[in-house]
Amino acid sequence: MLPSPILALITITGAALVSATNVAQLQAALAAGGVSAVYSTNSNYSTVTAAYNRRFTISPIAVAYPTSDQQVATAVKAGSQQGIAVVARSGGHSYIANGLGGTNGSLVVDLSKMKSISVRSSNNTALIQTGNRLGDVAVTLNAAGRALPHGTCPYVGIGGHSGYGGFGFTSRAWGLTLDTIKSATVVLANGTIATASSTVNADLFWAIRGASPSFGIVTSIEVSTFAAPSSATVFEYNWNKLNVSAASNAISALQTYAATNIPAELGLELVFGAGPSKNTVYMGLTGAYYGTGDYSTILAPYLAKLPKPSSKDITPGSYINSVATLGAPDSLNTSSKPDDTDTFYTKSIMTPEGSPMSAAAISAFVKYMANQGYTSDTAWFVEVELYGGSNSAINAVPLNSTAFSKRDILFTLQLYASSANYSPPYPADGVSFVNGMYNSIINASPANWSFGAYLNYADNQLANATSLYYGSHYARLKSIKGSVDPSNVFRFPIGV
Ligand SMILES: Cc1cc2nc3c(=O)[nH]c(=O)nc-3n(C[C@H](O)[C@H](O)[C@H](O)COP(=O)(O)OP(=O)(O)OC[C@H]3O[C@@H](n4cnc5c(N)ncnc54)[C@H](O)[C@@H]3O)c2cc1C
Ligand SMILES: *[C@@H]1O[C@H](CO)[C@@H](O)[C@H](O)[C@H]1NC(C)=O
Ligand SMILES: *[C@@H]1O[C@H](CO)[C@@H](O)[C@H](O)[C@H]1NC(C)=O
Ligand SMILES: *[C@@H]1O[C@H](CO)[C@@H](O)[C@H](O)[C@H]1NC(C)=O
Ligand SMILES: *[C@@H]1O[C@H](CO)[C@@H](O)[C@H](O)[C@H]1NC(C)=O
Ligand SMILES: *[C@@H]1O[C@H](CO)[C@@H](O)[C@H](O)[C@H]1NC(C)=O
Ligand SMILES: *[C@@H]1O[C@H](CO)[C@@H](O)[C@H](O)[C@H]1NC(C)=O
Ligand SMILES: *[C@@H]1O[C@H](CO)[C@@H](O)[C@H](O)[C@H]1NC(C)=O
Ligand SMILES: *[C@@H]1O[C@H](CO)[C@@H](O)[C@H](O)[C@H]1NC(C)=O
Ligand SMILES: *[C@@H]1O[C@H](CO)[C@@H](O)[C@H](O)[C@H]1NC(C)=O
Repeated sequence: MLPSPILALITITGAALVSATNVAQLQAALAAGGVSAVYSTNSNYSTVTAAYNRRFTISPIAVAYPTSDQQVATAVKAGSQQGIAVVARSGGHSYIANGLGGTNGSLVVDLSKMKSISVRSSNNTALIQTGNRLGDVAVTLNAAGRALPHGTCPYVGIGGHSGYGGFGFTSRAWGLTLDTIKSATVVLANGTIATASSTVNADLFWAIRGASPSFGIVTSIEVSTFAAPSSATVFEYNWNKLNVSAASNAISALQTYAATNIPAELGLELVFGAGPSKNTVYMGLTGAYYGTGDYSTILAPYLAKLPKPSSKDITPGSYINSVATLGAPDSLNTSSKPDDTDTFYTKSIMTPEGSPMSAAAISAFVKYMANQGYTSDTAWFVEVELYGGSNSAINAVPLNSTAFSKRDILFTLQLYASSANYSPPYPADGVSFVNGMYNSIINASPANWSFGAYLNYADNQLANATSLYYGSHYARLKSIKGSVDPSNVFRFPIGV
C-alpha cells in the first residue's frame, strides 16, 4: 500500500522532491512499455548503481535497461512526466558519475542491452549502438579491416566518449571520435526519436558532437570508418628519475618538436609521476606510429633533446595489436571480465597552440610535481597529450562545425590523483593537491591565456566551468537546449 505522497517522500538523500506516487507511476509506465528496471528496493540495486569513480556514491531513482530506441523513448517520457532528471549511461566511466546522474534522484537509462554494430563496406560507414564499449568496437571494425579514432581504455563507452570528444593516438590522423559521426539517432526530451545529420535537424547534429548528454539520448551513431593501417608500432620510453630542469626541457622541447613537420600518423603523450626522491619526477613517453617507414627516425630529433632513457619497450605489430597493447592489462573483448573501479579526482587543461605553455608555467608545474608530488599521499599521474602540432586532423576541423569547444589545442593535460590503493576513502588533501598543480600552471600563465578544459575529463569543482568547457559555443548551445529540452529533462552537473 502506498501511503500519502506528501508524507512518504522517497528517502533518497539530496534528490528533488519525488514522491512515492511519482515512483509508482514511473514504475507503471516502464512496466507498460516492457522496459526492465532496477529500483532501490531490489537486491541488485547497489551493484548496478556503483560508480566507476568510487569517490561518488549516487542513488538514482531507478536504472532502466531498454532494448530498443522505442524503449529508450518510453523511459525518457516516463521520467520526464514525473519530473525526474533523465541521464544515459553507456560505459559508466564518467569521472564525476554523470552516467548515474552525478547527483541523487535521477532515472538512469542504461544502454548495455543495445550493442549492435554493423559495418557497411559499401560506403565505409558503421552503425554503432551506444551501449558498446571501445574495445568491442575496435575488435568488430577490425574484423572488417576498418578502424575509428578513440581512446585507449577498452571499457570506456562509445556513448560518453563520442558525445564529448574521444582522443587516441590515431586522432592526429583521423580526428576525435565525434568528428567521424555522419548521423545519429537521438531520443529527445519529449520522447521523439529524431535523426540528426548535416541535412536533418542540423542544430541538434551540431550540439551532439561535443555536448550530447545535455541534448538527448543518442541511441546509435553512424560513423565514417578508416582503413585499419597495415602496421602499427607502439613505443614507450621511461625515465625513472629526471630533475626539474630536464623534465621542464622535455615539455618545452615537445612544444618545439610538435611544430616541426611531424606526420599525422604519429601520436604521443608524456606521462609524469612521482620520482624516487624529492625534486625529481618519473617521466614516460608513450605513443604509436601508424604510417610507413621507421617511427624512430621521425622521433629521433625529439629524443635527441632528452637524456638517455632508463628503459624502452617497442611493440611493432598489426593495428589491432596496437589497440590491445595500449589497452592492456584490460582485454579488448569486454565480456571477458567485469569493469574495474578507481577512486580519484581529475582536472584538465587544453593549451592553445598559438600561445603554448610559457617557460615560467612549465617550470612552476614541474617544480610542483617534483616537490608536492613527491610528498603527496595520492597515487597520481599527469598526461601531456599531443592533440595539435603539424598536420593534426583535430585542429583541421573548423571550430564552428561541431560543438567541441576548441580547435587550436596543442596539449590536453590530464592531472589525475587516485587514493593510494585506488579504493575509498579518498584522502582529504587529494582535491587540494590536484588544484595546487592546476594553479601552478594557471597562476604562472598570462591572465588572458585562452586555455580550455576537456569534458571527457569531467571536473564538477572547476571555477568558470561553463566558459572553460563550452567556450564560445555556449550561447548557441543554450539556445538549442531551449528548443529541444525546454524543461531541462537531461540535467546533471556541468551540463548545458
Ligand atoms: C580508464 C579510463 C581511460 C580513459 N581514456 C581516455 C582516452 O584515452 N581518451 C579520451 O578522450 N578519454 C578517455 N577517458 C575519458 C572518457 O572518454 C570519459 O570518461 C567518457 O565520457 C566515458 O564515457 P562512458 O560512456 O564510459 O561514460 P558514462 O558515464 O556512461 O557517460 C558519460 C556522460 O555521457 C553521457 N552519455 C553516455 N551515453 C550517452 C548517450 N548515448 N547519449 C547521450 N549522453 C550519453 C552520460 O549521461 C554522462 O553524462 C578515459 C576514462 C577512463 C575512466
Ligand atoms: C546520495 O545518497 C546516498 C545514499 O543514500 C548518500 O550517502 C549521499 O550522501 C547522497 N548524496 C547527496 C549529494 O545527497
Ligand atoms: C536485478 O535483479 C532482478 C531480480 O531481482 C532481475 O530480474 C534483473 O535481471 C536484475 N537486473 C540486473 C541488471 O542485474
Ligand atoms: C551507407 O550505406 C548504408 C547501407 O549500406 C546506408 O543505410 C547509409 O545511409 C549510407 N550512409 C551514408 C553516409 O551514405
Ligand atoms: C567477445 O567474446 C564473447 C564470448 O567469447 C563473444 O560472444 C563476443 O562476440 C565477443 N565480442 C566481440 C566484439 O568480438
Ligand atoms: C639535470 O639532469 C640533466 C640530465 O640528466 C643533467 O645534465 C643536469 O646536469 C642535471 N641538473 C642538475 C642541476 O642536476
Ligand atoms: C562561430 O560562431 C560564432 C557564433 O556562434 C560567431 O560569433 C563566430 O564568428 C564564428 N566563428 C567563425 C570562425 O566562423
Ligand atoms: C593578452 O595580453 C597580452 C598583453 O598582456 C597581449 O599582448 C595579447 O595580445 C593578449 N592576448 C589575447 C589573446 O588577447
Ligand atoms: C572566466 O572566463 C571568462 C572568459 O574567458 C574570463 O573573462 C573570466 O575572467 C574568467 N573568470 C575567472 C574567475 O577565471
Ligand atoms: C518534440 O520536440 C521536438 C524538438 O523540439 C519537436 O520538433 C517535436 O515537434 C516535439 N514532438 C512532440 C510530439 O511534441
